Amino acid sequence: MLEALFGGMPFFGAAVRGKQTSVMNSLFLTGLASLAARGSPMRVLEIGSWVGYSTLTWVASIVSFSTGGEVVCVDPLEPYFADHDNEKDHQRMTAALNNGLAKDLFEYNVSRLPKNVTVTRIAKRSTDALPALPSEAFDLVYIDGSHAYEHVKFDIDQAKRLVRDGGIVAGDDLDKPLSQIDEAAMLPFVDHDVIPDESLPHGLVHPGVAVAVKRSFSEVCSLAPLWSVRRVGERFLPVDPREGRVIIPPHFSEEEKRQAQGLLRPTGR
Ligand SMILES: C[S@@+](CC[C@H](N)C(=O)[O-])C[C@H]1O[C@@H](n2cnc3c(N)ncnc32)[C@H](O)[C@@H]1O
Repeated sequence: MLEALFGGMPFFGAAVRGKQTSVMNSLFLTGLASLAARGSPMRVLEIGSWVGYSTLTWVASIVSFSTGGEVVCVDPLEPYFADHDNEKDHQRMTAALNNGLAKDLFEYNVSRLPKNVTVTRIAKRSTDALPALPSEAFDLVYIDGSHAYEHVKFDIDQAKRLVRDGGIVAGDDLDKPLSQIDEAAMLPFVDHDVIPDESLPHGLVHPGVAVAVKRSFSEVCSLAPLWSVRRVGERFLPVDPREGRVIIPPHFSEEEKRQAQGLLRPTGR
């Protein structure tokens, strides 16, 4: 059905909030992947995949920076927002989770992959799935699942175990640098997806992510909303995606490709 509707092209419709990130952020993801690649096969663990937009960014990165590999996606694709998270976007996502559209779109979007890359979805919550995965098995772990503090903290603790030495741990939704996070003010709200924050351009902050990242690392590279660190022995040090190589993933729309080219064009300064 989806194949007939969309002619084999990936689909990330606004009605399901299929694209949850900016062009710039996706380019940063590819930069991180280039810095995490060290050969083949490259293994990426993604916690929270929704309908596969960021998944396909990892797939494209593996093709460019390695000769093949795997993206392991941990996502039950079942309703997860708490009652207090009831904004329009949450409602849209919950509807797509309830009626199975999110699952169908994910499967459809990852159904045409390059021959040397596989995508495997583990249809479980991270708390159930991650402990069963082998230690140091991934070059890159990307955390973008539940934004509630307990879950993000759990995902980070597991990511530290799951990433190989020299690999990268990164995540979405850190809206401000660690130094600007007022942990005490956020603590009462850490089980919320987002709360208002007038100091930010988009007016919202993810308190659970902010507190979990702040408690887990002394420093991270923060290119809001992306945060990233590299494992160096037993330490985790900031790693800047802008130091990596960048590609424009083929699942970008024509408009996104134009935007990306504009961002990558030298300014002449
Ligand atoms: C923000 S979306 C991910 C967006 C995706 N990374 C992208 O950029 O296209 C969050 C995802 O986390 C998933 N999720 C929620 N709770 C989770 C949990 N406990 N474990 C794993 N995934 C979870 C949801 O089903 C949803 O698909």
